[in-house]
Amino acid sequence: MTFPLSRPRRLRRDEFSRRLVRETVLTANDLILPVFVHELDGRAPVASMPGVDRLSIDELLRVAEQAVALKIPALTLFPVTAPDAKSLDGAEAWNPDGLAQRAIRALKKNFPELGVITDVALDPYTTHGQDGLIDDSGYVVNDETVAALVAQALSHADAGADVVAPSDMMDGRIGAIREALEENGHVNTRILAYSAKYASSFYGPFRDAVGSAGSLGKGNKYTYQMDPANSDEALREVALDLEEGADMVMIKPGLPYLDIVRRVKDHFGAPTFVYQVSGEYAMLKAAALNGWLDERACALEALTSIKRAGADGVLTYFALDAARWLAE
Ligand code: PBG
Repeated sequence: MTFPLSRPRRLRRDEFSRRLVRETVLTANDLILPVFVHELDGRAPVASMPGVDRLSIDELLRVAEQAVALKIPALTLFPVTAPDAKSLDGAEAWNPDGLAQRAIRALKKNFPELGVITDVALDPYTTHGQDGLIDDSGYVVNDETVAALVAQALSHADAGADVVAPSDMMDGRIGAIREALEENGHVNTRILAYSAKYASSFYGPFRDAVGSAGSLGKGNKYTYQMDPANSDEALREVALDLEEGADMVMIKPGLPYLDIVRRVKDHFGAPTFVYQVSGEYAMLKAAALNGWLDERACALEALTSIKRAGADGVLTYFALDAARWLAE
């Protein structure tokens, strides 16, 4: 009988040596909490995202307080626009007294140390649910949309946003937003570019949450979001956004796209974030609620895997729970 020359199981035998050789450690520093805000009082549950509520600004401040206590560095805001404030051109997006702008001001006033990230895209504000302006054929027009996104990003920065995160996938928007921020004295407003954002069907629950699903109807976003079949194209998108002045880049969704995360991190070495999207959350939650999966173990495994693939941080609806679990 010959013995194995190497026994990798030795280091797995005890918890002390498993801890010593652990390569990836998830902490609260890695988490960004997405939050939905609405114009109504109190909280309203999102049916397809059990455990996630739409929040009034008062409730948002309670959640922000928890995030600060749990040492979560930042949250990202998604407003639910009242139907009568939606329009063809989404002009509510740059209303200085819009819901997003009021939420930013309330957060920065009460919790100046908590990073506030905002979503830059028109879909919560347009009657057609597209992320930009459309022509007569329904096609989302690029350059006119970029001008609108610049106005939206500036209004967020004016309200005090620390980071603007364009999620629209128009060409040239990062450069245009960067230039406008510089010209208007917002030299330290960071840009987190949704660089490789795929035309994914995993965004369904989010569109229910912000109320853009009904507006979009049978429409889709294939003319601007990326084809899930593509990988090299993600590198070209990230290269452009970094050249145009992005401080951080994002891959979205998460778990089905970890090959992209690894390629982007290896190729650019830039701060790289991942959005574990609404559909990923809904799948885990649904299985957990049926007793088919252990929620805590599976959520932490998914988040750790995203970090192992190369992410510096994760936008996740599990952020508050994950931070609590990690603190135990
Ligand atoms: C809007 C936006 C979407 C998400 C973030 N910003 C939806 C979409 O592009 O249709 C999805 C987030 C999620 O599913 O959790 N531009």
